Order: sequence, then structure tokens, then C-alpha cells
Amino acid sequence: MHVSAASLLTIFGATGDLAQRMLLPSLYSLEREGLLPPNLRIFGTARSALDDDGFRALVAQAIERHVPAPEIDADSLARMLARLSYQAAALDDPAALAALCDTLRAARNGDVVFHLSTAPRLYGPICRALGEHGLGGAGTRVLLEKPIGRDLASAIAINDGVARVFDEDQVFRVDHYLGKEGVQNLLALRFGNALFEPLWNARHIEQVQITVAETIGGEGRDYYDESGATRDMLQNHLLQLLCLTAMEPPSQFDPSAVRNEKLKVLRSLRPITGSDVATETVAGQYVTGAIGGRAVPGYTEELGRASGTETFIAMRAHIDNWRWSGVPFYLRTGKRMPRRTTEIFLQFRAVPHSIFAATGAQSEPNALVISLQPEERIELRLMSKTPGLDRAGLQLSQVALDLDLHERFASDRKRLAYERLYLDALEGNGTLFVRRDETEAAWQWVDAIIAGREHAGTAPQPYPAGTWGPTAADTLAERHGHGWRE
Ligand code: BG6
Repeated sequence: MHVSAASLLTIFGATGDLAQRMLLPSLYSLEREGLLPPNLRIFGTARSALDDDGFRALVAQAIERHVPAPEIDADSLARMLARLSYQAAALDDPAALAALCDTLRAARNGDVVFHLSTAPRLYGPICRALGEHGLGGAGTRVLLEKPIGRDLASAIAINDGVARVFDEDQVFRVDHYLGKEGVQNLLALRFGNALFEPLWNARHIEQVQITVAETIGGEGRDYYDESGATRDMLQNHLLQLLCLTAMEPPSQFDPSAVRNEKLKVLRSLRPITGSDVATETVAGQYVTGAIGGRAVPGYTEELGRASGTETFIAMRAHIDNWRWSGVPFYLRTGKRMPRRTTEIFLQFRAVPHSIFAATGAQSEPNALVISLQPEERIELRLMSKTPGLDRAGLQLSQVALDLDLHERFASDRKRLAYERLYLDALEGNGTLFVRRDETEAAWQWVDAIIAGREHAGTAPQPYPAGTWGPTAADTLAERHGHGWRE
């Protein structure tokens, strides 16, 4: 497929929260760095009755609110605002959609990207309207926000609706974690160094832990209450991190090669079904507690009603292939945890024989800690001699080889994930987007866990806000001789 840089970007849902916090600020930053295609026009649409000037005012306000003040300069802002236009449309109204498509067709002059940041139930109807108005053929791409469905069946229905108009290589499913610098650095670490690959397997690795912890709560959002941590975080962000950690080396950094390898991981995940759901997973919901010395209400108090939604999930997963046979992958994600952190922890196997055992020196296993958020840091934990004359025998201490990327690249601006994602989508590079088969394989695996939980009818276990989840999560790891990193 021949692709050229898009000259028209249409954002559906352009006045929404995501657009204001992330999308428009990211486009502004690309503008400021001269990275937007010179002739790109940005067309916004949403239900709000605004004209072009009203939309420009809203965008200017969003940028002022969400871009750090030192990064805002009048010239860049003016250039960005000059690219904008807007047409109001109730996207569930076929006549309004048709009128919008007429405008878009008239405005089009080259490649176009449609970014759907609306309720996913509208993806099918929007794509159908685009197709009927000749906006679905060569030179068009569609960017889809999560969630793609709430289970496999609804994901298939949405993907089918989109596929009636757009071929898979025109579809860019966003998982904003893939746009994060730290997540891409995981690939650089694994495949830009010869050091790790020989050790990156069941022979040398004892266990892997992937944690995505947030301090924010559910914020009383209905969307969150309908999803819960399993659908909101596990199905997408956590499984994408798992894929990048566990996949085989792709032959190249290109869309097919990378996504083929990720898919193989998803398809090798051992299903957790039936009664295994109770032994291999733990769901939790936060109750009143404190974070950083500040009291925070429980999930249902914030929501204002009773709820059985899980705000935490932890599990022990297995990848049944040669590389990872027998290695547990502990995954956990939760809201209202003690601190915000996204981290991958690989614990290596213990030394086969300790020559210092006679002196009572304790050797701890080596570990690699890859922190992605809030700061990027890579830490290799090694054993070293504890300084001293050791009359009672040599003693060992664990020390860390610490690569603080935050400090090393302190002068580099911290980018929003959408800067990378927009740049790639505008230029037609799908490597950091999720392919249909990946989304569906992830849903299939996650559906079994949700079904097992629903079948058992167990409520999520309470944990005080500001803790690392229910105690059952600790037991889950301890039963197998492991402990979560804190
Ligand atoms: C979103 C989830 O996809 O990711 C939110 O819907 C979550 O519930 C967010 O808070 C976390 O993203 P980040 O970039 O802050 O780690």
C-alpha cells in the first residue's frame, strides 16, 4: 500500500476529555517542533455547537491548561490554530454524519486520517458513513481508541464494522502505552544489546513481575465502573507489556514482524479458566484509606452507589512455549496504590552452588528492574562483597547497577505518548498500533477470567486505598515461594 503523509486529520470527539488533555496538546508539541506535515489541516467534530473560532478558542484553552507554560509560544500556537476547523455533528444521527462526510470529501486533498475518539459503538456507523461517501479507499487511515469492545464478541462486531470499509493495514488501534518512551525503550534494551538475550529465558529467569500501579481512583466514572481493572488495564496495557517482555526477537522493527511476535505470545498464554480463576487471580476493590498522608474515600463512596467492579487485579500467568516454560509471570494493576509505578521485574535464578555458604554469606538472586513510569530507570541488581576484613568470613550485599535515564536525558522534554502515535499514524506506520488479531486474542484470554469470576459469583476483595491490594495477592505469590516487589 502506498502511503504519504496525511494532509487532513479529522478528530471525532474533538471536544472530549481525551482530546483536550492529550490529543490537542500532543499536536501542539509536534507543531512546535516542526514535525507536522506542512500542509496538514486538522478538522474537529463533536456534538458541541461550535464554529471554527469557538473550536480554536477551546483548543487554545486546552493547550494552555495542559501544556507546561514554558513550552507554549505564541507563534507555534497561532500556526496550530490556523490549521483548525470544526463542524458540529451528532455522530449517532445519520443525516448529520452524511453532512459531515460531504464537508470532509470537499476538504480532502491527499491522505487523510480519521481519529475516532468517541463511544466505540459509533465506530461501525462512522466507518459506514465514511465508506458510503468515498472516504474509505486508498490514502485513508482510521485511528481507533480503546476500548475495542468489552469482550471478544463485541470486539469482533466492532472490528467487523470497521473492516467493511477499511482494510486492516488502514486501521490503527491505539494502546497509548506503546507510544510511551519507556515502553519503546524496553525494545531497545532487549534488542539493542547482546547481553540480555542469552539470559532471557526459562533456563535463567525464575519469575517475572509486571506492575502497573496508579494512585488515582476510579474518579466516579461510569465507563470505569462498567469495565473494571481487567477490561480497562489488563486486556490492553498490561498484556502489551507482557508481549514486549516475552516475545521472540522480531526480524525487523516493522509492523508485521513486531505484531506477529506479540500475537504468538498472546496465543501461548495458558488459559485461566473455571476454578483456576479463584486460585490464579485475585480481584480487589479499594475502600477508604490514605495515600501520601491524605485520606481518600473508597471506590463506592466516590461512585455514589454500590458496585462489584474490581479496581485491582493480580494474577499468575504462564506462557506455554519453549522460552518461558514453567516461568510464572505475575501481573498486577490497581487504582489507589501507594505510588504510581509501571515496572517490569525479572528475577534470575539463584547461583547453582554458593562457595560462601560456610561463612553464612547470603546470596540473593540477580534481578533486572525496568521502570517505565513515573521515571525511566533500569537497574541490574548484583551481589557484591560487603566491605570489611571479614574475619568471620566474606559477606555479600546486593548492589544496583543503576541507569537513571531520567537524569541522563534530563534535557530532553518528556513527551506525551500521543506525539509518537500521531506522528506514526500521520505517516502511515502501524508498528506501535495493535492489530485486530492481537486485540481479539487478548479478549479471548481475558474473557475466560471474567467468566470464571462471574461464575464463582465472588465479590472483589477489599483493600484500603494506599496499599498494594488485598492480602490474597501476596498469598498468591507466596504460595509459590515468590514475593511482590514493593
Ligand atoms: C487508560 C485507562 O487507558 O490508562 C485509565 O482507561 C488509566 O483508567 C490510564 O488511568 C493510565 O494511563 P497512564 O498513561 O497514566 O499510565
